[in-house]
Amino acid sequence: MERIFCQLTDIVDGDALAFDHDNSKPGAPGLFVIREDEKAYCYVNGCPHLHITLDFVPGRFMNKRTGVIQCTNHDARFQIENGKCIWGLCKGGTLTSLPIRIADGAMILEASAGVDVATK
Ligand code: FES
Repeated sequence: MERIFCQLTDIVDGDALAFDHDNSKPGAPGLFVIREDEKAYCYVNGCPHLHITLDFVPGRFMNKRTGVIQCTNHDARFQIENGKCIWGLCKGGTLTSLPIRIADGAMILEASAGVDVATK
């Protein structure tokens, strides 16, 4: 079943927002959604370095100076559009992406993602 995260305008352009993952699976990792202009990207909140959440600083996923995703544990940096690590201890690794689309201004997790989400 697809789920609406929020409205595109609920996230400041260039920033990200955290969401719970699947309420039916205790301990499932969270998700975060990035807005980049009129586009949105969704990733599992798990760093490929140590498989812990990226936002050691809660809710902080972005390096706004460089315009990339940044893990706040050891500062690995990832491209927004594909989640590929371009700098840091997991260089070459990738974040796990989930399919998201925008319809009528809403960010929608595609049904094929197979997860249920709720606002964190
Ligand atoms: S846990 Fe993310 S860089 Fe180490």
